[in-house]
Amino acid sequence: MPIHYYEQTQTFRIDAGKTSYAFRVGPRGVLLHLYFGPHIPDEDLSGLEFSLGLASFSPNPPGMAGSRFSLDSALQEYPVNGTGDYRLAALSIRGQNGSSATSLRYRSHEIRDGKYALDGMPAVYAGDAAAQTLDVTVEDPLTGAEVHLLYGVIEGFDAITRAAVIRNAGDAPFVIEKAASAALDLPRMDFDLIHLYGQWAQERQLSRAPLTHDIRTIASKRGASSHYHNTFAALAERSADETHGGAYGMSLVYSGNFAIETECDAYGATRAVLGINPVDFAWTLAPGEQFAAPEAVLVCSGEGLGGMSRTFHRLYRRHLCRGEWKEKIRPILVNNWEATYFDFDEEKLLAIAKDAAALGIEMLVMDDGWFGRRNDDKRSLGDWFVNEEKLKGGLKPLVDKVNALGLQFGIWFEPEMISPDSDLCRAHPDWVLCAPGREPSIARNQYVLDMTRQDVRDYLFETISGVLRSANIAYVKWDFNRNLTEAASPALPPERRGETFHRYVLGLYDLLERLTAAFPHILFEGCSGGGGRFDPAMLYYSPQIWTSDDTDAIERCRIQYGTSFVYPPSSISAHVSAVPNHQTGRVTDFATRGNVAMAGAFGYELDLTKLTAGEKELVKQQVAQYHAYAPLVQDGDFYRLINPFEDENRCAWMSVSPDRSEALATFIVPKTRVNFTSCLRLAGLDPDRFYKDSLTGSVRSGSLLMNAGINLSRAWKDGESVLIHLKAVR
Ligand code: GLA
Repeated sequence: MPIHYYEQTQTFRIDAGKTSYAFRVGPRGVLLHLYFGPHIPDEDLSGLEFSLGLASFSPNPPGMAGSRFSLDSALQEYPVNGTGDYRLAALSIRGQNGSSATSLRYRSHEIRDGKYALDGMPAVYAGDAAAQTLDVTVEDPLTGAEVHLLYGVIEGFDAITRAAVIRNAGDAPFVIEKAASAALDLPRMDFDLIHLYGQWAQERQLSRAPLTHDIRTIASKRGASSHYHNTFAALAERSADETHGGAYGMSLVYSGNFAIETECDAYGATRAVLGINPVDFAWTLAPGEQFAAPEAVLVCSGEGLGGMSRTFHRLYRRHLCRGEWKEKIRPILVNNWEATYFDFDEEKLLAIAKDAAALGIEMLVMDDGWFGRRNDDKRSLGDWFVNEEKLKGGLKPLVDKVNALGLQFGIWFEPEMISPDSDLCRAHPDWVLCAPGREPSIARNQYVLDMTRQDVRDYLFETISGVLRSANIAYVKWDFNRNLTEAASPALPPERRGETFHRYVLGLYDLLERLTAAFPHILFEGCSGGGGRFDPAMLYYSPQIWTSDDTDAIERCRIQYGTSFVYPPSSISAHVSAVPNHQTGRVTDFATRGNVAMAGAFGYELDLTKLTAGEKELVKQQVAQYHAYAPLVQDGDFYRLINPFEDENRCAWMSVSPDRSEALATFIVPKTRVNFTSCLRLAGLDPDRFYKDSLTGSVRSGSLLMNAGINLSRAWKDGESVLIHLKAVR
């Protein structure tokens, strides 16, 4: 059993794969953190708690005058605000007395088989795997707040999931001003903070910098996890690299306003707190009600950043993604966005579909522009009715013709949006999300729908279902092209409008849950102006996400490399697009465009009818390669080999099959140099087996390939690349 409680010392211990985690009940019922790191034997952990309550500026709790115990320096499980700990808090509750001073004491606990779930919110699930839950109840005697600190562990994973569920067991309402999902106190600060930042068309860029004595926040206030920061951070030992060293990965399963805060205190300890962003958040909890903070996933890796990422990949692919498609090889699709933008009709789409069928592509996705009077981005969002000027006779005749060519059909929606110039907005102006008395800001000519409202969600469910039922639709791209502003729902009473951001996200999850349950055969792909909502929670509904609107293969090296820190290759949607690239104007080799896209859920985003005969041959080759390599890429273990954020001349990664009998390495030269020398050292192979590589044909040991590498020194042109397939021969 991975979870133990030691009565005598009131210590909890969780063993998750190769790691251990421990905390205990301390003075006045405070939960003190003891350990999180590589697996330790069953031993006495007393004395690991750290507390220095000797200074008058670090107060002792009531009744403990003169003791060495102060919350201000103690390592804790779930620190609270205003009662002697001046560092970042996980919980702050404003009670009837008007104060946000909060106090929590241990009351009881339960260890159960199986992994807990969170009502209305995505969370890692165990499925058939063995799992356990630790549910520790702590309570605030004054407000009646009862907090369930949940810990989940699934057999075989170096990961601990956490969440907090707050119940009002008192007799008066209180306001939750901050309720983090988890806090992590570590008794050292010699870490680098790694996180992923970005902007539109430049998502998940890598940042790594040493922690110092300050508070850092990685956050979003946009109503979406956003292009700008991802719901992930890692604390890595300074010397940790891809293969060696300790790293703590923290990932929040949430799609809305979030914050991952770190603070290094005066005593050299690090506190990390992650959860819903407390800015623009206030949640009134009436007696008997409960509130769940979203799930946080903590991964401790002793095998560097690569080990951390592979744990996230496996966990999220197998135990977070759901549905029929989660572990299936995804169809090769062609999307018409960059091929036609809004300017298409049935004829044009069928011409692309015909060529697609001849080349072995498996699905046509019709992007934005098929509904209402949508001939540009100025109107019609919300009017999910086929534009019969473009698609004569409606959707079904088109889909039938596409199916007759042997292709499946997919369609684009942007459900959460409403154009001012739409029938929907004329009929329901009150459905626009906007604080009463304010004018809504506008972005890409559109407003956001008030997803906190049941009637809005019902309308969307009915209309979208109607479209999905009207023809044989196999795929939906779910877009979200602006962020929230003036986010205070008029449908809520004024004192509850601080709940809008989170209620919006819950509304989104509710709609996604209903639609994915009603249409289990449909493959959903998430999207938000590219990868503006690429987070674990969205993977629960859509096992793949459009990674970026930047389809330039060279730019994609960095974007996909950064994305791989948390997200499995099967979730990283990647397409071959035309040159000059529409975002950067760069001209990159067709093969390289394919090789980069091959590292994810593969497809095309160009007008196939405009390709030369030579390019069409290359498409056929890429299609064949995808069929050969996709199982390896999507189910294999991913190793980052050369970091394009550190090396502007090279980028490399590889996938290794679970039984290590096969591998595929990708080497790209974004920018060449004269006398280019490079030895590509591989990873993840069996050192004692011998592999034949498709580039040189030579047979070499895994050990040699990993320690000496493959010699790739030759004249390379800008943007050239190579795929190297390795097969164990003995
Ligand atoms: C977003 C998406 C694109 C495309 C357009 C359509 O930008 O990321 O792929 O669907 O919207 O408007």
